[in-house]
Amino acid sequence: MPYSSSTTSNISNTMIQNTLYSNKWNLCKPLRYTNNKWNLCKPSTTYQFTSKDRNTSKNKKLYIHQGSATMVVHGKDANERYAVVTGANKGIGFETVRQLALAGVTVILTARDEKRGTHAVDSLALPNVIFHQLDVRDDESVHSLVDFISNKFGRLDILVNNAGASGVTVDEDSLRAMKIDPASWLSGQAMNVVQGVIKTSYHTAKECLDTNYYGVKRVTQGLLPLLELSTYGGRIVGVSSLRSELRRIPSEQIRKELGDIETLTEQKIDKVVDWFFHDLKHDMLEANGWSMMLPAYSISKATLNAYTRVLAKKYPNMCINCVHPGYVDTDINWHTGTMTVEEGAKGSVFLALLPDGGPTGCYFDRTEVAEF
Ligand SMILES: NC(=O)c1ccc[n+]([C@@H]2O[C@H](COP(=O)([O-])OP(=O)(O)OC[C@H]3O[C@@H](n4cnc5c(N)ncnc54)[C@H](OP(=O)(O)O)[C@@H]3O)[C@@H](O)[C@H]2O)c1
Repeated sequence: MPYSSSTTSNISNTMIQNTLYSNKWNLCKPLRYTNNKWNLCKPSTTYQFTSKDRNTSKNKKLYIHQGSATMVVHGKDANERYAVVTGANKGIGFETVRQLALAGVTVILTARDEKRGTHAVDSLALPNVIFHQLDVRDDESVHSLVDFISNKFGRLDILVNNAGASGVTVDEDSLRAMKIDPASWLSGQAMNVVQGVIKTSYHTAKECLDTNYYGVKRVTQGLLPLLELSTYGGRIVGVSSLRSELRRIPSEQIRKELGDIETLTEQKIDKVVDWFFHDLKHDMLEANGWSMMLPAYSISKATLNAYTRVLAKKYPNMCINCVHPGYVDTDINWHTGTMTVEEGAKGSVFLALLPDGGPTGCYFDRTEVAEF
């Protein structure tokens, strides 16, 4: 195809985006975005483009070769997708890694314990799964992961914040002997009978909030600059729980603080966490209307959801959502769950692979949108 310099093209942004996200579009001319449209330019040059279109973040560079479309973007290969899954040495996280890898994504399986993590990677035996240590409670560990991804891939496309802690200590034998039926667990009715064997202390609550809420913030803040360079627009999935649902919190004031998206800020959410710890310390949880079924876990997931909404507002070019994975048979619920990890990972994988223009700022019950 002959090249003609400075010719205004009739190339649409849709075509550009098709090039960016599928590389299916074959053209032989380099393009520049000026005066609100794409123009043909001199060959053998790369150009900054600053389209404000959805899913095209700043500072990407586009260069079209003869016969094929090739992007010069941040990172190694525009066609690859890179994902991080936290707490992935077992359970739903491990299965999420497996399903994403089988979908062709290069996945960084992370775990706080190096031995457990490398064992998990070895057992998957998939060439596109690699290990990096990550303790979501440790700033140094987060920095090390960010450096690793930055040097090796130059960007990130998917972050699944899956790592979780229950916030309680349990007498597992006594719990098993109680033979509580799944319906009582799910409705929260089991709360009264399990109080004797499931205990929340200040220490276990701290661990829980520092993992499920502050841990998510720590990891997300560290990786956001790399997610902003995603060729796919960036996907963040927060693995939440139905315990997070606002209707389960007796206090109207707490529901209002966390549920009013117009006034919600990170500072406001942090204040709710401080308020929770104050009430826990002074034995005022029940009196002040906190959820008494796994209180620390419940508020950690409710605050995670609220953070998801704040983040989704701030980064409209990404798809940022949270998900209840279902009631899944794993260590975190002492194997009381009824679903398999294959079923449990479906929601995370679905949200990680959302197409362009997919939902953002939503809470899902597996793959269905649900009420916060
Ligand atoms: N199973 C369910 O029914 C259910 C329901 C609702 C929500 N969820 C959520 O689903 C997610 C996955 O849980 P799961 O059911 O798969 O339970 P799991 O098998 O117990 O997995 C929890 C994972 O989190 C990791 N983790 C804990 N603290 C960490 C930290 N500080 N840094 C990094 N990783 C850490 C654990 O690592 P270690 O092996 O080192 O402890 C483990 O890999 C959690 O967020 C949980 O709250 C589960």
